[in-house]
Amino acid sequence: MNGNADSTGLVRRANGGPHWHRIACGEEREKPLCDPVLPNTQCLSAGQGKANITLIFRDSEMGEIRRIAHNELWPASEVLARSLHDDSISRGLIPDEARRRRLLPKLFSHLVRAGLLFGEVHATSHELEGISVWLSPDAPISTFAKLFRVGVAWFPIEFGLRLSYRFLACHEQLEALREQHAPKRHWYLQLLGVDPPFQRRGHGRSLLEPMLARLDRAQVACCLDTENQDNVGYYEQLGFHVVATSILQAAGTHCWFMSRST
Ligand SMILES: CC(C)(COP(=O)(O)OP(=O)(O)OC[C@H]1O[C@@H](n2cnc3c(N)ncnc32)[C@H](O)[C@@H]1OP(=O)(O)O)[C@@H](O)C(=O)NCCC(=O)NCCS
Repeated sequence: MNGNADSTGLVRRANGGPHWHRIACGEEREKPLCDPVLPNTQCLSAGQGKANITLIFRDSEMGEIRRIAHNELWPASEVLARSLHDDSISRGLIPDEARRRRLLPKLFSHLVRAGLLFGEVHATSHELEGISVWLSPDAPISTFAKLFRVGVAWFPIEFGLRLSYRFLACHEQLEALREQHAPKRHWYLQLLGVDPPFQRRGHGRSLLEPMLARLDRAQVACCLDTENQDNVGYYEQLGFHVVATSILQAAGTHCWFMSRST
């Protein structure tokens, strides 16, 4: 193999090339040398320890950032909930602060699951300082099957009728904006959040830039919505521009719909 492990568990190419990362499968049986969670990765070697098999992968396209695995769904949702706790759509959906603190991680876990099923979820590092959730151009928009797989059928039990209605009404309005204003083929940045103690230290930018560079290379557009006017300038610096504005009635908040072409 063309690399050696360091004390952090990362394996780096001797010539300083892109990061490798290591996945401990935690199983005694041999597993196939690929991971469905990381389809862009390439297996470099498999070593068998006492109780588990370690597979070492290289993410071929994303450089320094990494795609999260299914078992990181909950910690990633908690990072998003902390970072978006005071966002206007979060406040509009769940005005009571204590209830918001309790329910937001659960609510975001469904959106992270959508990213894992229908797109990609990225993290800055294994520390999960920041998380971005992307939906792929091939993901169906708002079909019943998609919503069902994300767990929408349980929403009234998990969140009550009022919050379920507000959430689904906002979701539907955003999907309508997307159908109306997004290019036919695009990636969608569904969620972005950097844990508050790590904000304004470049994590947001380093999370987005490799993905945007990859989309530029593939000549694919991307879109997003933001409910915070302060973020419009942030996304403009990254090449997005506002293509529509709207009011999400169910959350009582403004929304800026932004697009970025290659
Ligand atoms: C918005 C967010 C993702 C930005 O990530 P971050 O790691 O804090 O920001 P970065 O360090 O990458 O910022 C890079 C640059 O953008 C600027 N910037 C950061 N947030 C900004 C904002 N809201 N508006 C304008 N500029 C901003 C920074 O000052 C920095 O500029 P500088 O390098 O010249 O100082 C993060 O602050 C966050 O999670 N905020 C709360 C949740 C949120 O709003 N998410 C987005 C929902 S659409």
